[in-house]
Amino acid sequence: MSTACFLYLLICLLCLIFPSSSTSSVEELEILLNLPTALQSSPSSAAFISWTLENPLCSFAGITCNSNGSVLEIDLSGKQLSGELPLDSICHLSSLEKLAFGFNSLHGTLSNQLCRCTGLRYLDLANNRFAGQLPDLSTLVELHYLYLNNSGFSGAFPWDSLTAMTNLVALSIGDNHFDSSPFPKQILGLRHLNWLYMSNNSISGEIPPELGGMIELINLELSDNNLTGGIPPEVGRLTNLWQLELYNNSLTGRLPIGLRNLTKLESFDASMNYFDGDLSELRFLTNLLSLQLFMNGFSGGVPEEFGEFRKLVNLSLYMNKLTGPLPQKLGSWSEFDFIDVSENCLSGPIPPDMCKQGKMTKLLMLQNGFTGEIPATYGNCTTLTRFRVSKNSLSGSVPAEIWGLPALNIIDLAMNSLEGPITVNIANARSLAQLFVSNNQLSGKLPDEISSVRSLVTIDLSDNQFFGEIPSMIGELKRLCSLNMENNKFSGLIPDSLGSCSSLSNVNTARNLLTGEIPRSLGSLPVLNSLNLSNNKLSGQIPSTLSSLRLSLLDLSNNLLIARYQFP
Ligand SMILES: *[C@@H]1O[C@H](CO)[C@@H](O)[C@H](O)[C@H]1NC(C)=O
Ligand SMILES: *[C@@H]1O[C@H](CO)[C@@H](O)[C@H](O)[C@H]1NC(C)=O
Ligand SMILES: *[C@@H]1O[C@H](CO)[C@@H](O)[C@H](O)[C@H]1NC(C)=O
Ligand SMILES: *[C@@H]1O[C@H](CO)[C@@H](O)[C@H](O)[C@H]1NC(C)=O
Ligand SMILES: *[C@@H]1O[C@H](CO)[C@@H](O)[C@H](O)[C@H]1NC(C)=O
Ligand SMILES: *[C@@H]1O[C@H](CO)[C@@H](O)[C@H](O)[C@H]1NC(C)=O
Ligand SMILES: *[C@@H]1O[C@H](CO)[C@@H](O)[C@H](O)[C@H]1NC(C)=O
Ligand SMILES: *[C@@H]1O[C@H](CO)[C@@H](O)[C@H](O)[C@H]1NC(C)=O
Ligand SMILES: *[C@@H]1O[C@H](CO)[C@@H](O)[C@H](O)[C@H]1NC(C)=O
Repeated sequence: MSTACFLYLLICLLCLIFPSSSTSSVEELEILLNLPTALQSSPSSAAFISWTLENPLCSFAGITCNSNGSVLEIDLSGKQLSGELPLDSICHLSSLEKLAFGFNSLHGTLSNQLCRCTGLRYLDLANNRFAGQLPDLSTLVELHYLYLNNSGFSGAFPWDSLTAMTNLVALSIGDNHFDSSPFPKQILGLRHLNWLYMSNNSISGEIPPELGGMIELINLELSDNNLTGGIPPEVGRLTNLWQLELYNNSLTGRLPIGLRNLTKLESFDASMNYFDGDLSELRFLTNLLSLQLFMNGFSGGVPEEFGEFRKLVNLSLYMNKLTGPLPQKLGSWSEFDFIDVSENCLSGPIPPDMCKQGKMTKLLMLQNGFTGEIPATYGNCTTLTRFRVSKNSLSGSVPAEIWGLPALNIIDLAMNSLEGPITVNIANARSLAQLFVSNNQLSGKLPDEISSVRSLVTIDLSDNQFFGEIPSMIGELKRLCSLNMENNKFSGLIPDSLGSCSSLSNVNTARNLLTGEIPRSLGSLPVLNSLNLSNNKLSGQIPSTLSSLRLSLLDLSNNLLIARYQFP
């Protein structure tokens, strides 16, 4: 045993042998007034403004006393405090039961004098910037709540200290840099625990079946660890669970029979693992608000029962091997927020009512086999920020209102069999940055109104049947970075104003029916990198202004141009 370690044990033993006798109120005042000295508070937080000798100590903000006028609680959470916590003095407060300094910027290592705070029932040092190893905590046997999450601690966690904390109700130690460890068996004896946050704690190996005995658990979070093996069927005994978070581990196997018993579960996330098998065990979890299972190997259908889940608001199943249709009533009951079922093998129509309550923000259904039309109901969905259904087999025309949804940032309809025009509604698309509609059978003239959508960054209209002239005011699009109109039937002149789209880096109008001269203005596009005007009916001389561009791609072939300019 090292000397340091020995001394440390000795101090802790002394704590046990000589429990601090009660402190006088003068001593308590002295201890408290030490705090504003040791800790810096930002002027805006005014944490210590009431901590003056004019005020009785029990009326200091953040202080609660017991009936004897002795300090019972210090709660200075979220007061923008920095500095090192003077535990050596604080732990002399003989009646202290609650010490809460969460959400501050405290630094330094935790003094092992913490072991003197034996009366503590509530300790919150979470969300700070401490460093180093945690001291032994085994004397804190009265603790009911222990929050140390996201506080900068490292080294070995004192797992054995937990054994004596038999009253513990909440244990939150996630998001620290603790040494890698198997699942700590010491936790399994904490029979009153209802909150366990142990995500991002370098826990490896298997989840022990005995976890099923911790039947008071309401929240169980083990995400961002290195867990392997399956979910033990015994987890099905945790019928009080409200939240189960297992994402980003290396868990395998099927969802075990018994999970169906977790009917109080509102939030389940098992994303980013290696699970397989089907989702049928989840049919009974009717209280789910959020279900996230993305990036796994789940197969089979999406249970029809999901369409009856009255509270479901978030559903993320992308990158699995799911097949068959989605329940058509999906998301119609609650204030549904988002769906992401991209990269599966799903088929059938898009459920029509996911925006029924008018709250939906994201519809992501890329790369599946969805068929039928885009339901007109989404034309009303003014909250939508992303509408992405590319790489499916959708047909029919796009409901006109969709082009003009005011919050939409991305419209991605590429690689379907959609028909009809982009309508004048696009004038209302105040937030639209990305317009991807390539590889469809869209047709009609590009509405002049598109020039008023100043937020546009990318326009990809390639491989469609658009015709008519390119809007002459297109130069208004100062943020436009990429314009791809390849393989359509655009005719007429390339507008001069295109040279005013000062952010353009990529222009592709190849394989159209464009005529007239190449505008000289293109030569002044400051960041143009790629210009493909090939396979049109452009004529006249190639403007000398193009020689000032620094292009990595230039293709003017298959036109009627007179080549005078020598390309380097
Ligand atoms: C108040 O002090 C008395 C005498 O020291 C003690 O017996 C009692 O437990 C104290 N009460 C509280 C609430 O601390
Ligand atoms: C982190 O600690 C805070 C207290 O500062 C607590 O309110 C919160 O619930 C903890 N987070 C988790 C996920 O347990
Ligand atoms: C894990 O915790 C560390 C702090 O210890 C934090 O910086 C990191 O972002 C967390 N990782 C994840 C995936 O949340
Ligand atoms: C997954 O967890 C590991 C820690 O085990 C972390 O380093 C990584 O950033 C996490 N990945 C994601 C995508 O959050
Ligand atoms: C996870 O475990 C593997 C082997 O089991 C190990 O190589 C890897 O370093 C571990 N990762 C973390 C973040 O602990
Ligand atoms: C699920 O609940 C049923 C009925 O209460 C019970 O018979 C079964 O054993 C439970 N399953 C598990 C894994 O706890
Ligand atoms: C649903 O997802 C959104 C966006 O990620 C999030 O803000 C919201 O809290 C989630 N709701 C639930 C109930 O998980
Ligand atoms: C849009 O909302 C209005 C008013 O709530 C309603 O009358 C109309 O039928 C809705 N249109 C669609 C396509 O859902
Ligand atoms: C320009 O577009 C045409 C038509 O798609 C294509 O064949 C050609 O390869 C492109 N030019 C270059 C240099 O990539």
